[in-house]
Amino acid sequence: MEEQNPINRRMFLKELGMMGAGVLALSSPWLSAFGDVAHTGKERCRIGLIGPGSRGRFLLSFLLQNPKVDVVAFADVYQPSLDEALKMVPKAKAYKDYHQLLDDKSIDAVVVATPLFTHCQIVLDAYDAGKHVFCEKTIGYTMAECKQMYDKHLETGKIFFSGQQRLFDPRYIKAMAMIHQGLFGPVNCIHAFWNRNGDWRRPVPSPELEKHINWRLYKERSKGLMTELACHQLQVGTWALGKLPEKVMGHGAITFWKDGREVYDNINTIYTFDKGEMMTWGSDIANKFYGLEEQILGNLGTLEPERGKFYYETIDPAPAFLQLINKWENEIFGALPFAGTSWAPETANQNKGEYILGKEPDNDGTSLNLFAFIEAVITGKQPHRIAEEGYYASILCLLGHEAITNGTIMDFPAEYKIDYPSYNTQALPKE
Ligand SMILES: NC(=O)c1ccc[n+]([C@@H]2O[C@H](COP(=O)([O-])OP(=O)(O)OC[C@H]3O[C@@H](n4cnc5c(N)ncnc54)[C@H](O)[C@@H]3O)[C@@H](O)[C@H]2O)c1
Repeated sequence: MEEQNPINRRMFLKELGMMGAGVLALSSPWLSAFGDVAHTGKERCRIGLIGPGSRGRFLLSFLLQNPKVDVVAFADVYQPSLDEALKMVPKAKAYKDYHQLLDDKSIDAVVVATPLFTHCQIVLDAYDAGKHVFCEKTIGYTMAECKQMYDKHLETGKIFFSGQQRLFDPRYIKAMAMIHQGLFGPVNCIHAFWNRNGDWRRPVPSPELEKHINWRLYKERSKGLMTELACHQLQVGTWALGKLPEKVMGHGAITFWKDGREVYDNINTIYTFDKGEMMTWGSDIANKFYGLEEQILGNLGTLEPERGKFYYETIDPAPAFLQLINKWENEIFGALPFAGTSWAPETANQNKGEYILGKEPDNDGTSLNLFAFIEAVITGKQPHRIAEEGYYASILCLLGHEAITNGTIMDFPAEYKIDYPSYNTQALPKE
């Protein structure tokens, strides 16, 4: 049974190369979701999808590949979304009101892929109806909503996953295990950014649908780039550092796309940690040259998990120009006791690096995230720390948004701290 699954466990572990199970369990404890996969082959799980829009149908395409899943119902307020979803699963029931889907007692779990401002109420109602929940990121529109959703998950004991697919992306999992083993030295700084060149608008069939279709651009429905993009990358930073930031500051503006939108098109934020480490996150959607990346900087090396690569600081040979300068410098200053900092310019390293997985990345973790959710629904076991990662990813981007809109340096609010056991990465063996 397992072999028929296109996202099977063996392929996944193969992608992670030689990483020992112990290392992975400490660095990415939610992989416990796959613990019983060999015994759940004959089980099935009935899923309802709420909000089969663009992301919802992408998730659906993976759910349909999983032999353990029956997608039995859709709910969406917008008929064209229902029509598209029904083309993919003609036998499914279709509702305009999600409460009707929740009333179906035969449905085990729901996948919620509606716009941000609707998530909280839908998820709370889903828990009240006894369903397990996969909710797209950012989970809540406010920090208070996120806390309500997380608390409800604890109270009901039902499974909670969010759409933080990097947690299941083999290149990130392996990169984090390498970082936690100390292979790059202490991580002091992370620069994360997501740039695009486009207005972020979708075509609107008629003007009254503008806010419904382009909900991302309007304040009462979304918090723009912070909630749509930063959510993924801020979580990578806390995963790498194994802790939460203490303070957040930032600035945002509508600089280029002055087209009636209400959310910033240009943002920079800084998240600072207890030992002086920091993470910057920025997004400019009027220039895409640098694209997206998380540059994780340790004193022995650098990782760029999006590109799927890592680079050690010392490589031979150094670029010819720098070699020449070093030679002169050594000849001139070599014998002097005060010879210190080089005057050679710190040009970007020409090091081409190595692939984290030994090859170009071909999987962004979305299918495995859903696969893990299905396993958790079937076994009824909430994987370690998965809900907490989703919760904090959302809190971090909402905190950044508040720092920007209030124009203040924000402390991490004590009332939104939850139990987040430390990574204990010191315990990791150097394999
Ligand atoms: N994890 C990721 O990488 C990723 C990528 C893209 C989008 N997303 C998230 O997915 C969610 C949806 O984004 P999208 O781009 O698919 O948006 P979308 O507008 O394409 O789809 C949203 C769907 O929800 C429907 N809807 C709106 N209100 C509803 C309600 N009250 N009840 C039922 N249906 C309702 C809409 O009609 C639409 O069909 C967002 O939270 C977004 O942040 C996540």
